[in-house]
Amino acid sequence: MQRTLILLKPDCVQRRLMGRMITRFEEKGLNFVAMKLIRITPELAKQHYAEHVSKGWYPTLESFVTGGPVLAAVVEGLEAIQVVRDMLGATSGLKAAPGTIRGDFSSSQQMNLVHGSDGPDAAKREIALYFKPEELIEDAPTLTKWLR
Ligand code: TYD
Ligand code: MG
Repeated sequence: MQRTLILLKPDCVQRRLMGRMITRFEEKGLNFVAMKLIRITPELAKQHYAEHVSKGWYPTLESFVTGGPVLAAVVEGLEAIQVVRDMLGATSGLKAAPGTIRGDFSSSQQMNLVHGSDGPDAAKREIALYFKPEELIEDAPTLTKWLR
């Protein structure tokens, strides 16, 4: 089992698409083990996107992700990190394949609705940025193996 961080970004919240996104992850077979609505501070944005802080487009990214509430969540499941990345699709909504979240709901390189950690190290680091260990559910409903 793996855990990964999901952020429903400000565009997702403002477009009232949170429920549909949560449904997609649940339908796929992922369990939510933590969830909260927060406002990302510029400091947290810089930590979260440390690898991008020096890029020319970082200032607009920071204004975007700090510009409204975000739903931060941790989901758990078999190969959850890659499963979520595959569900998101390519970074730009213009390039993301139809059927993916970004492909279905975004036409923007920046406002692409949902973040997912891009590997095991990132997942560990990002979950710790948003959640204290005691905020993570340790006994998420365990479905019978064939329902996973
Ligand atoms: P990145 O880590 O490349 O994408 P992903 O979210 O798919 O892992 O970039 C982080 C976020 O930065 C991305 O979701 C949207 C934003 N972004 C821009 O605003 N402009 C850009 O040119 C790129 C590549 C990303
Ligand atoms: Mg990334």
